[in-house]
Amino acid sequence: MTQENRKDPNTTDPGPNRRDSGGHFVFPRWTNLLRELSALLAVGGLVYAVLLVTWGLSPQNSAIGYAPEQPVPYSHELHVGRMGMDCRYCHTGVETGAKANVPPTATCMNCHATVKTESEKLAPIRKSYETGEPMEWEKVHDLPDFVYFNHAGHIQSGVGCISCHGRVDRMEVVRQEAPLNMSWCLDCHRDPDPNLRPVEFVTDMEWKPEGDPRELGAKLREQHGINPSTDCVTCHR
Ligand code: HEC
Ligand code: HEC
Ligand code: HEC
Ligand code: HEC
Ligand code: HEC
Repeated sequence: MTQENRKDPNTTDPGPNRRDSGGHFVFPRWTNLLRELSALLAVGGLVYAVLLVTWGLSPQNSAIGYAPEQPVPYSHELHVGRMGMDCRYCHTGVETGAKANVPPTATCMNCHATVKTESEKLAPIRKSYETGEPMEWEKVHDLPDFVYFNHAGHIQSGVGCISCHGRVDRMEVVRQEAPLNMSWCLDCHRDPDPNLRPVEFVTDMEWKPEGDPRELGAKLREQHGINPSTDCVTCHR
């Protein structure tokens, strides 16, 4: 869509008005400004960038609520909400790497080698374990490749999973809670205070600050020198 707009001669060529005026018609003064503006916009690259940014900022390409069916009905509500497992037992990369990781079959078999060994629902897990073929979990969240994101940078600064993924501990099926568009990222980068907590509580879905979250956040931000960048290269490298 943006490609077509870029090539559309009507967006880049301010000519027709001038030609039609034939030199006799006196334009009101403000059109000079318009003409200069359109001349500026005619610089192809700029038009392209403006269109892309407009598109990038529009909420239309968000997928809030996306919750694909998984090959095994693994429930966070059961394992995290009721059994109290910590996210990091399975999502081992989340504190140290860009990716949080979805756990390998062996992690499930730590328990399911002895728990619910006859369960139909777990048949694909047992098969994956026997054959060594990894499970093909459906991706829920998926940023475009031109965006750089890093979990560790957020977790180590005390942004909790809940700020971006919602109440995962209540989800039978994981669903996308945040739009993951550029303005969503930038909103928090400009004002992170309400989303900062002591790092020991990053995976805690029940944690609430005593008093005003913004006040505590501001204090933590100063203490740890947290200052999220809004430079383009932070997320587009
Ligand atoms: C026992 C292992 C286990 C634990 C504990 C666990 N998860 Fe998961 N998680 C999984 C598996 C398996 C998947 C992939 C299947 C699915 O989406 O349900 C997954 C998927 C996810 C996804 C979606 C990944 C994607 O494709 O975008 C998010 C987000 C997530 N988990 C967050 C959490 C959070 C937050 C916690 C802690 C509150 C947590 N998980 C605890 C096993 C676990
Ligand atoms: C710490 C132990 C533990 C781990 C690790 C674990 N589970 Fe479970 N899982 C359980 C327990 C306990 C139950 C509930 C058994 C019951 O209902 O009595 C359960 C139930 C289930 C069920 C429902 C089975 C049924 O027939 O109702 C599924 C599906 C399941 N787990 C999938 C997984 C997957 C997939 C993983 C790996 C990502 C995993 N579990 C990791 C302990 C574990
Ligand atoms: C600042 C927002 C943010 C926070 C905080 C956050 N995530 Fe994510 N998470 C994302 C985004 C964005 C993606 C999609 C990444 C992509 O597509 O490259 C994602 C993807 C995932 C995935 C899919 C696999 C992967 O690594 O891409 C899992 C699992 C996950 N997050 C778990 C967690 C857990 C567990 C926590 C807390 C310990 C957490 N996330 C904290 C934003 C966040
Ligand atoms: C809820 C708040 C929040 C959201 C949402 C958020 N960020 Fe951040 N981000 C932060 C904080 C806090 C930092 C840490 C800044 C610091 O350490 O000074 C950070 C740091 C980063 C860094 C630098 C850290 C590193 O490891 O390189 C990148 C890159 C980044 N964010 C990308 C993103 C992207 C892309 C999105 C949207 C998909 C996003 N962020 C959404 C709060 C957020
Ligand atoms: C904190 C992270 C972050 C920063 C900083 C950031 N962006 Fe983005 N940007 C994103 C994310 C995430 C998307 C993907 C939006 C989507 O998929 O809806 C995006 C999308 C875009 C797109 C859309 C590309 C397309 O194909 O539609 C453009 C263009 C863009 N950004 C330019 C910029 C420019 C220029 C800057 C600096 C002024 C900037 N971005 C700063 C996170 C960021």
